[in-house]
Amino acid sequence: MCAIEVEPPRGRSTETRPVVATERLLLRAPVMADAPAVAELANDPGVARMTTSMPYPYGLADARDWLGKAERADPRDEAVFAIEHRQFGFIGMLVFDEPAAGRMELGYWIGRPFWGRGYATEAASAALGWARAEWRRNVVWAGHFADNRASGQVLCKAGFLYTGDVVARPCAARGGEAVPTRMMVWLA
Ligand SMILES: CC(C)(COP(=O)(O)OP(=O)(O)OC[C@H]1O[C@@H](n2cnc3c(N)ncnc32)[C@H](O)[C@@H]1OP(=O)(O)O)[C@@H](O)C(=O)NCCC(=O)NCCS
Repeated sequence: MCAIEVEPPRGRSTETRPVVATERLLLRAPVMADAPAVAELANDPGVARMTTSMPYPYGLADARDWLGKAERADPRDEAVFAIEHRQFGFIGMLVFDEPAAGRMELGYWIGRPFWGRGYATEAASAALGWARAEWRRNVVWAGHFADNRASGQVLCKAGFLYTGDVVARPCAARGGEAVPTRMMVWLA
């Protein structure tokens, strides 16, 4: 894993956006041109139903709206990465954000055609390495729905431990239903 800095898109402030490179992937700032690929892969109940906020169905307008927010995010508080496969292009997203002040959380999704090949584990591990070395974060939280064993596996393999806490989190794609969510923590 290595991290390099790239210039922001034209019109942005002077801060730079990190790029994290792994053997098969590039984690880079998302851009509006990603919208069609985001909409195509995100419009999948198997993806949206495992996240708190992604709607289903998920259209181009949802992707544009989300990418606009990502572009405006303050990189001191949030890090949003498009996960790009060196051969296949855009395959998913990875986000560090702070749903509660002072509590950085990791979230991600991978498009269904790319499941089961270790990409989420590779992306999460590299992103955490970057967060520790470049972003100076020592504690990262994550929560996965109790019926999402695959994400639990990803988080365990990336070095997270279960805290024992199970909280109810609403899921937009399940009609706002509160879903038991197993909390995990990663310590640098
Ligand atoms: C969860 C998700 C990110 C996994 O992506 P991925 O690239 O397929 O994950 P990886 O290939 O890195 O690893 C998946 C691990 O989970 C395991 N796994 C996959 N499906 C599983 C299941 N149904 N039950 C238990 N383990 C499962 C795999 O075997 C693998 O572990 P292994 O390498 O030890 O065999 C992807 O399925 C996804 O985007 N799902 C929808 C959105 C989501 O869940 N986001 C996370 C919200 S917390």
